[in-house]
Amino acid sequence: MTKVISNIKQFTKLRKSKSLTDKSIGLVPTMGALHEGHLSIVKRSIKENDITIVTIFVNPTQFNSKEDLLKYPQNLKGDLFKLKKLKVDFILVPAFNEIYPDNYAYVLTENELSKILCGKYRPGHFDGVLTVVMKLLNIVKPTHAYFGEKDYQQLKLIKAMVDTFFIDTKIIAHPIVRNKNGLALSSRNERLSLEQQVLAAELHKTLSSGLSITKIKSTLKQKGFVVEYVEKFDNRILSGVYLNKVRLIDNVKI
Ligand code: PAF
Repeated sequence: MTKVISNIKQFTKLRKSKSLTDKSIGLVPTMGALHEGHLSIVKRSIKENDITIVTIFVNPTQFNSKEDLLKYPQNLKGDLFKLKKLKVDFILVPAFNEIYPDNYAYVLTENELSKILCGKYRPGHFDGVLTVVMKLLNIVKPTHAYFGEKDYQQLKLIKAMVDTFFIDTKIIAHPIVRNKNGLALSSRNERLSLEQQVLAAELHKTLSSGLSITKIKSTLKQKGFVVEYVEKFDNRILSGVYLNKVRLIDNVKI
């Protein structure tokens, strides 16, 4: 049966118990408002590990705008229902004080990759992400931790952080899950009307069009997006755009 825990000390004690030692443990960190993309990662972790632990924590330190944090969709009851249905072993739902007993006095900063692409437009965002992920890895001590490729820059930063700090967890990248129109699933899509969601799918279509970066940007603008950035990075085209004040990110392999 799924166990829901909010107290970190209680979890740490459990983590040391016999039932969790010498097991493969999959961690799926989330900020809740779970959609099919999250659930596909959770199902994969269940398949690949003895034990799966999902964390639900809307991490305030990674929101660089108060408005974005306030508008971030939350549905704890629905999330717990979905995860229990999948028979997840543990759901960790810590409060702010549990995760940040120092009130965010200690911060983990990366000084290169975190300053470009999304990081250029969201100062402090990746400090918040890396700090919370490091804490979650230290609390859960998973053998595997799963992150979606939609947040490609986040994924790369976390992989490098784990190597840099010799953390004994394998970071697993999960492919982007899209709806039938090609729109990458995201909790933020809930803030778009159905009509806007159809238009939002044009982001993926345009990124995959084979056009030059300049032409992709102008096409997106014509279609009604406010373009923050579209850039080639690794073997991908990464993008951050706004539609109706909702920030969307997506990327495609070249
Ligand atoms: O990708 C997310 O949902 C968040 O950035 C994460 C990894 C759960 C950290 O808060």
